[in-house]
Amino acid sequence: METLLRGRRREQEELDRLLRDVRAGQSRVLVLRGEAGTGKTALLEYLAETAAGERVARAAGVESETEIAYSGLQQLCAPLLPYLDRLPEPQRQALATGFGLAGGDPPDTLIVGLAVLGLFAEAGAEQPLVCVVDDAQWLDRMSEVILTFVARRLDAESVALVFGARSPGHEQILGGLPELLVEGLSDADARALLDSVLPDRVDARVRDRIVAETRGNPLALLELPRDLSPAELAFGFGGSGPAPLAGRVEDEFGRRIAALPGETRTVLLTAAVEPVGDVPLLWRALDRLGVGMHAAGPAETAGLVEIGTRVRFRHPLVRSAAWRSAPRAELRRVHAALADVTDPAQEPDRRAWHRAHAAVG
Ligand SMILES: Nc1ncnc2c1ncn2[C@@H]1O[C@H](COP(=O)(O)OP(=O)(O)OP(=O)(O)O)[C@@H](O)[C@H]1O
Ligand SMILES: [Mg+2]
Repeated sequence: METLLRGRRREQEELDRLLRDVRAGQSRVLVLRGEAGTGKTALLEYLAETAAGERVARAAGVESETEIAYSGLQQLCAPLLPYLDRLPEPQRQALATGFGLAGGDPPDTLIVGLAVLGLFAEAGAEQPLVCVVDDAQWLDRMSEVILTFVARRLDAESVALVFGARSPGHEQILGGLPELLVEGLSDADARALLDSVLPDRVDARVRDRIVAETRGNPLALLELPRDLSPAELAFGFGGSGPAPLAGRVEDEFGRRIAALPGETRTVLLTAAVEPVGDVPLLWRALDRLGVGMHAAGPAETAGLVEIGTRVRFRHPLVRSAAWRSAPRAELRRVHAALADVTDPAQEPDRRAWHRAHAAVG
């Protein structure tokens, strides 16, 4: 399958260069870092496809296996085990014990590290070896330590060792290795990706706001519009069906929102159902609800939203989490306040839409 990535020419060229170096006999290490959904796995797929003529070994950290020593390394090295016999006996023994192929005391970390280095070198001597390790933030600690050790010592074995790791929050993982930051797409690329999944009738401001809030995050751009009705896309959030949306991330935001004071949750909810990011309008609506500006503080401190000249949610899933977790009565109250402060002459559609959602049933 060929992967068509939007707006990733620079990153793809970097991976192409890495592959060229490895084919020429050098070894290369690279850690792709970026937030959830930014496209690390997609780039690793691109690398694996481009490297299809070479030997590709793959592994991925698994959240539920982070306590199982060597599980990541074992997965990565499984296709290389035929080379085990070429290693010096203590290394062979250490690796066999670590991987549970032989009994014995827990192996010495240094010897396991040297063994993995030796295994990679033996494989690379026959054919360039491309090791792809995704979700490194969930690697078991031993695998992470050993792979960092190996990465620092690779030199000219025709071996590539390329990781995907989430940030922020896991910077200490694979620290000090060469990095490629995988950031959001440019506005133009983000808009193009969004348009590829959007129906025709979308309020341009709602669209621009999605682009701004996602900061070009491809997952958010692809997932967010999926559950939205045409009316929601035209006017913003406010439908009734609690459809699941990028569950994991959203649940996490939901927990952070639930921990906030009640008035702060009202600020988030009001901002969430007011799709244009109009700050004066937001304050007028909150004023009607008896909520002062200070109530926004805890949400800003928690990094969930920035209220400057426009409202900017940390991630669109914050907005949907705020909206989905709100009690229906509260949601109606907020829509009613927004309807009250929306200019009937200038924005009759939007006002009617808020009023409809403020009504019971
Ligand atoms: N440049 C791009 N163009 C088009 N689609 C993309 C691009 N980058 C990523 N995608 C798509 O966006 C979604 C998220 O990307 P991906 O899974 O690679 O993110 P990730 O960084 O690995 O996230 P996580 O940290 O959760 O593993 C996928 O459906 C992927 O196919
Ligand atoms: Mg991924």
